[in-house]
Amino acid sequence: MDNLPKRSDKEIQYNVNKLLNKMTLKEKIGQLYQQIYSNKYATGPTTTAKSIEKLIKKDQIGSILSLYDTKKMYKLQKLSIEESRLKIPLFFANDIIHGYRTCFPIPLAMSCSWNLDLIKRQAQISAYEASHNGINMTYSPMIDLVRDPRWGRVMEANGEDPYLSSQIALSYVKGYQGEDLSNYNTLGACCKHFIGYGKVEGGRDYNTVDMSDRTLRQYYLPPFKTCIDNNIAAIMTSFNVINDIPMTGNKKLIKELLKKELKFNGFIISDYNSSMEMINHKYAKDEKDVALKSLEAGIDIEMISESFINNLEELVNSKEIPLNLIDDAVKRVLTFKYKIGLFDNPYKNFYEDSNKYLLLKENREIALKIAEESIVLLKDNNVLPIDKNKMIAVIGPFGKSKNVNGEWDALSRDKDSTSIYDASKQYKDYKLKFSDGCDILGNDDSKIDKAVDIAKKSDVIILAVGEDKYMSGEAASRSNLDLPNIQKKLVKEILKLNKKTILVVHAGRPLILTDYESKCDAIVYAWFLGNESGKAILNTLLGFNNPSGKLTMSFPYSVGQIPVYYNHFSTGRGLTKENKNQKYISKYLDIPNEPLYSFGYGLSYTKFKYKNIKTNKKTFYNNESFIVSVDVENIGDYDGEEIVECYIEATNFSVVRPVNELKGFKKIHLKKGETKKVLFTLRKEDLAYFNIDMNYICEEGLYYIKIGSSSNKTIKTKIKFKP
Ligand code: GLC
Repeated sequence: MDNLPKRSDKEIQYNVNKLLNKMTLKEKIGQLYQQIYSNKYATGPTTTAKSIEKLIKKDQIGSILSLYDTKKMYKLQKLSIEESRLKIPLFFANDIIHGYRTCFPIPLAMSCSWNLDLIKRQAQISAYEASHNGINMTYSPMIDLVRDPRWGRVMEANGEDPYLSSQIALSYVKGYQGEDLSNYNTLGACCKHFIGYGKVEGGRDYNTVDMSDRTLRQYYLPPFKTCIDNNIAAIMTSFNVINDIPMTGNKKLIKELLKKELKFNGFIISDYNSSMEMINHKYAKDEKDVALKSLEAGIDIEMISESFINNLEELVNSKEIPLNLIDDAVKRVLTFKYKIGLFDNPYKNFYEDSNKYLLLKENREIALKIAEESIVLLKDNNVLPIDKNKMIAVIGPFGKSKNVNGEWDALSRDKDSTSIYDASKQYKDYKLKFSDGCDILGNDDSKIDKAVDIAKKSDVIILAVGEDKYMSGEAASRSNLDLPNIQKKLVKEILKLNKKTILVVHAGRPLILTDYESKCDAIVYAWFLGNESGKAILNTLLGFNNPSGKLTMSFPYSVGQIPVYYNHFSTGRGLTKENKNQKYISKYLDIPNEPLYSFGYGLSYTKFKYKNIKTNKKTFYNNESFIVSVDVENIGDYDGEEIVECYIEATNFSVVRPVNELKGFKKIHLKKGETKKVLFTLRKEDLAYFNIDMNYICEEGLYYIKIGSSSNKTIKTKIKFKP
């Protein structure tokens, strides 16, 4: 297809205003309504295909979500272009968060690769596949900061650090939106869920959120600001109440913060039926009040619920809301449709035989690469990689399971995924025997004995276990973060054999591994790695891939420790080696303060040594930068990748600051025996924080600069800042 004309913002605004002036009030309100083609989901109004088609013909619906049938999308677009008065194109949106048909690891897993280029590349592939199948927008990246693994949606997120999460968010946006939205192969990106959704009380989905303005701006806002500064097309609000106001009706945070202060010029869409849920929150008294509060807060498109199409016309005619609120929202929506080229070619995303763009070989190779880099080696008592002449028993349901794509898996299919068993067929000269021992869920223990018998005859046991994919994702909060009971029973019987055992865990969140840590010789975190899961895991266990992933979320020692995260405050009675036996210290009677595995932690088959950290100056002034350098040496027996992490610590500030703040990272390749000097250039902006007056500044004083392989394993130097 020919490239679409590149239209300047000025030209687009001219066209938008010209169209707006032709629109009736009903037609304007129609652009602010997004519905599922036929809504059979748990919440929201019941719609039918017929009812949607009727609205389309009257230009009273602007976009459709969660429709994957490309032919149906084409039919609806044709209806809109050929039978409506103004021929305004629809846009089609879906949740493509880790692949469309080619399935990549879940986002939390991909974040552990710390590989921004690969994350961008997988987003490009998702955009390539989806944009060849009728889709114009994805509800991704999910950029909620997460510190509570009881919340099932951590699987969609990028971890507990604002800096890393911002960098990753940018990779997604660039991958989806490309250089120009009107190009082919692009998707409009919609980051979510604004804001604070990851901090729901008790880790219970849809629950209440409360935080200071500083916490919000310092920790939860940065990834959204990065997306806004990089022209993301849309932002989705979250279900939760935040600071006593439901997010969907939160004018201070939507209109004042996003649209005015941060100058966000895309559109804001409410989450699924969340507008009407303001009645459940007891914040709106009826549907008309919902419409009023949502629009006044700055919601531009209402998803699923119908308060806008049922009430806005009356609210305008009765002068309860000014028309310009509607016009502003409509302009934002039409601007997106112009930018993505739908007015030039409403059929730009429809192709003959759209399936031929899916699951391309070169894209599966990218899926394998990012799956390998998402694996985190948590423990290895020198049993890995497994020697070729060993008898290997693969025990557990994830030996042969293809249930490895994780939730929010769009149009991907388990049958396209490789299990460990599938992958083993390419390793003919290895001796692997499989026995599942039990299912992922349920209580059928009848196969455990057979698994134990097979394990007894082996030299090394791979225990392939984990969560079912529906145990994480939306509405999947857990109070207990252990393996399913039947698998715990299997693991217990296998560990009694006292053989070399490698625990391979599939999960959508950090699980509590404390009981296994001391009993297993190695622990490999395999998340849900998507289509290439089995191959990535076996390549790693057999040494064809040297693991390099590092945790972006702390792994609690126990559920009782939650929330536990690396960038915590020191408190007035912080626990240290020296005072650990004193009573009046901030500590537990029964467990350590530290998580089992820290943010930034992950092992390799080789070893890296950090030395010679130094800055190029002792003091830096206002607009200067400074360089901190470190030598990293590969002192082990394998070539490998190392994520070099750079943290700062303010020694004093007008407010309390964390013991560690990630400010940079570099993923380097080191051959066995090789040393590389790694440099980070930092400025006062990198050392800034919201101070007592809520100004984001770097105050005068001494700052430690710490570089290392994990948030809890660094070497340090220091530098003074003088304004
Ligand atoms: C869901 C999710 C949101 C998703 C939307 C559309 O409830 O909260 O992440 O994008 O509905 O499917």
